Amino acid sequence: MGHPHFRLTRQETDTAFGDAAAGRTVVLGDEIGSGSSATVYRAKLVHAWGIERPIAVKVFDATASDDRDAVLGTMAAAARGVAQLHHPNVAQVYEFGVLDGARPFVFEELVDGASLPTLIADYESKGQRVPLDLALFLGVEIAEGLDGARTGAGSCDGASGGRMCLVHGDLSAREVLLSKLGEVKLTDFGGASAARVVSSIRSYSSVAKRAATIAPEVIGGDEPGPRSDVFSLGTLLWEMLVGPRFPRDLEDASVLLHARAGYVHTTVFDPQLPAPLKAVLRRALDPDPSKRFPHAGAFAFELRRIALAMGVGDGRVFLRYAVKRLRGEGAPDDAMPTGEIEAVPTSSDLVVATPASGTVRKATRAEPPVS
Ligand SMILES: Nc1ncnc2c1ncn2[C@@H]1O[C@H](COP(=O)(O)OP(=O)(O)O)[C@@H](O)[C@H]1O
Ligand SMILES: [Mg+2]
Repeated sequence: MGHPHFRLTRQETDTAFGDAAAGRTVVLGDEIGSGSSATVYRAKLVHAWGIERPIAVKVFDATASDDRDAVLGTMAAAARGVAQLHHPNVAQVYEFGVLDGARPFVFEELVDGASLPTLIADYESKGQRVPLDLALFLGVEIAEGLDGARTGAGSCDGASGGRMCLVHGDLSAREVLLSKLGEVKLTDFGGASAARVVSSIRSYSSVAKRAATIAPEVIGGDEPGPRSDVFSLGTLLWEMLVGPRFPRDLEDASVLLHARAGYVHTTVFDPQLPAPLKAVLRRALDPDPSKRFPHAGAFAFELRRIALAMGVGDGRVFLRYAVKRLRGEGAPDDAMPTGEIEAVPTSSDLVVATPASGTVRKATRAEPPVS
């Protein structure tokens, strides 16, 4: 039987699909935001027959010409790896390309909602940390995304032309996108390797700003791996449940020093956190990678066990409400579903020991962000 636009024979499929694909148009919409190296737009991919798919278009800054090939190669490899995946906790990558020979771009799944820093800041502005049930839910979802990428994209011996090992490499709260449906999706896989390629042009202070979520061995120059992703997730849970890993007023040089030592506040473990959760966080945040969970899958398992033991159910509904509230679309606070566990209170004073000198100083907890 014929089809008005293409015939489904093996030989002709490619050309026919090629024609269909050529008819696509990208209609750029509003800017969603921009980060350290790219701007993200809401967009529509319009196909023939009026099929429209909402997407996010991310356009990176032009790469410097001296290491352009290396940067583009690394970014394309990361995009190829993620594009193979279909995992509920990883934002899908549809296309990778280069504009004007210098500006890499990706088309990816539009995660319409908010991102994790906004959620954390929202609770912080009320003097709270992220509620325990919500944090556990987020932790499990992020861990599942990391592990889905790790296992779904093949083994780590990409050297001999095998599939690359998908390590996130630069997991921070900014790379955790939260949808209005209560989904949690990771983005920007492979960022660290791209970052390393451009390290020659990166300033000391931008490294320092990102250092709070990077594993000590990676700061020291090791390749990121599944265990460094575990550490980064540990720092995110830490930030959600307890507070920033380093005091916010720490100078760049001290941040790097602390980060290299794998340092986390000594009074870290808020006594109000359940003991098994403290133990799990300690393990994830161990400065020695061999003592951490070997991969995020094992971390997810332990987090879920804790949630189950506490009788904490599915946190997705809370996340859905929280995202709506952040967007000013939600029900007022008092219409939140009951059953949400109280926000974990935070200590107002944290004692900070500087690892190198052994000196101890007091740091007050970060002020809520200015609005
Ligand atoms: N796939 C996506 N869907 C929706 N929003 C996104 C997507 N990817 C990134 N964003 C948002 O776009 C903004 C810029 O992203 P990005 O350039 O990755 O910044 P950063 O360096 O902070 O990670 C952020 O606010 C982020 O939440
Ligand atoms: Mg990002």
